[in-house]
Amino acid sequence: MADSAESNAAVWKSDAGIVQWVATAEERERGRVWPRRLLAELLPFSEADAFEFVDLGAGTGAAARAVLDRYPGATAVLADYSSQMMEEGSRALVGYDGRYRYVEFDLEAGRWPAEITGGLQAVISSLCVHHLPDERKQALFEQILERLAPGAWYLNYDPVAADDPAVEAAWRRVVDERDPEAAARRAHREPAEQERWDNHVRHIVPLALQLGFLRGAGYEGVDAYWKELDHAIFGGRRPTG
Ligand SMILES: C[S@@+](CC[C@H](N)C(=O)[O-])C[C@H]1O[C@@H](n2cnc3c(N)ncnc32)[C@H](O)[C@@H]1O
Repeated sequence: MADSAESNAAVWKSDAGIVQWVATAEERERGRVWPRRLLAELLPFSEADAFEFVDLGAGTGAAARAVLDRYPGATAVLADYSSQMMEEGSRALVGYDGRYRYVEFDLEAGRWPAEITGGLQAVISSLCVHHLPDERKQALFEQILERLAPGAWYLNYDPVAADDPAVEAAWRRVVDERDPEAAARRAHREPAEQERWDNHVRHIVPLALQLGFLRGAGYEGVDAYWKELDHAIFGGRRPTG
């Protein structure tokens, strides 16, 4: 656990790592408009509702902004452990003043901050849970369920792994057709890029395993609500009974 935590933190708590991530974020976000919007739509609120949601591993708030845009009465608690990402977030969130607050939270350590109490109306996460080892994913899903209000949802947008090499080959073929330079980039990564990539993929696991974690924890309505190649939106809600 320590090695995994350290290599992850080395990326997310390094000034150089964050500068590079932020410089390329806009381009990546262009391909995520639809899943960002869908995750917001999946939350069962109407435009008139006032509610607070928690975004775990919120980074600069890309997922939270989609929710805040769809529901003008919503406010967000953005949890992250990287002061660099939070600082970048305060720039990205200009225009959302009064509708969000950051709290420091290391998801791998798992000690929830006092600011996040029970009875949560919704919890989301995006592109972050895959950084956690499986036992932490499982424990996190349980901890979220304990803190959700009855009937409230947890939704996660994240990369998933293939459990069949033929599936992985099919995903890769599509990626390479869409981006003719992808294969060359894979083959010629600089050491720092390779380090980031290794960190990115080391805990990515199949969707079915994670749906099992959610069901095992006691969520209902568990499903993959969207999936394209190696990315999915999945989650469930706390039973009302
Ligand atoms: C790829 S970024 C995603 C940010 C944002 N959720 C999004 O969708 O753009 C991953 C984020 O997870 C955060 N993160 C990674 N490991 C974490 C941990 N153990 N505890 C809290 N945040 C973590 C990083 O600091 C970073 O902000």
